[in-house]
Amino acid sequence: MKGIVLAGGSGTRLSPLTLVTNKHLLPVYDEPMIFKPLKMLVNIGITEIQMVIGGNGVGDIVKICGSGSSMGARLSYVHQDRPGGIAEALKLTKDFSAGEPVVVILGDNIFENDISPYLEIFEKDIDTCRLFLTESEEPHRFGVAELAPDGSVIGIEEKPKQPKSNKVVTGLYFYPADIYDVIDWVQKNVGYSGRNELEITDVNNYYVRNKRCKAHVLDGFWSDAGTFPTLLRSANFIAQKKQTK
Ligand code: DAU
Repeated sequence: MKGIVLAGGSGTRLSPLTLVTNKHLLPVYDEPMIFKPLKMLVNIGITEIQMVIGGNGVGDIVKICGSGSSMGARLSYVHQDRPGGIAEALKLTKDFSAGEPVVVILGDNIFENDISPYLEIFEKDIDTCRLFLTESEEPHRFGVAELAPDGSVIGIEEKPKQPKSNKVVTGLYFYPADIYDVIDWVQKNVGYSGRNELEITDVNNYYVRNKRCKAHVLDGFWSDAGTFPTLLRSANFIAQKKQTK
């Protein structure tokens, strides 16, 4: 299975730091943020990885991650010229995927769970997209899933003012090989959102509507690290984890 780490975007929520460096280089306790999702993929055996980079300081991302060999990965890079959204960033990796299913992770997401059992499930059912949910006290900041009593996803809303649940969609996605066709479909039929981004939520809703989406609820720590409070929360979590080891 090939892996994709999305580290484009502009990181405006961490301004003024991101005026001079890249969000994904900021420290989450003892490592640059980007090491966390990268190592998470390597730890579950995904070593062939493409990273989408964009924004300020992209050269420093390449400098610090290099070929990936120090982490046991084979890394390649593609540049996103403007922050046009997660789905747009993912679209840039089409050639790399070479018609295979892909595991995608956002460069600012910090996970505690071992996701290898879910990867095994996905490998047996590679035509179904898999999303990972967690409970949040601030669901309005994320993609929010509406679930049926049997746990199936009814729909996902991006940053709703009145969230239908507290189950938010984390930045880990397992996609079937037709993901790039689906992104093209969304680009053509849904288009860019109010924030001028091609939304990954619209892509995920395509799979939901076509009954090809399964969601798993994670029980471990999860946070994005893209705001000052969540960057601090993520660093504190890693620090505590290191202390208890
Ligand atoms: O963290 C999970 C959330 O991520 C999901 O719940 C939302 O559905 C999803 O839209 C996204 O929300 P954010 O608005 O918080 O995403 P953000 O703009 O902070 O981007 C997250 C990462 O995605 C960022 O670290 C790099 C990558 N990205 C983002 C954009 C906008 C790109 O590679 N290119 C982009 O153009």
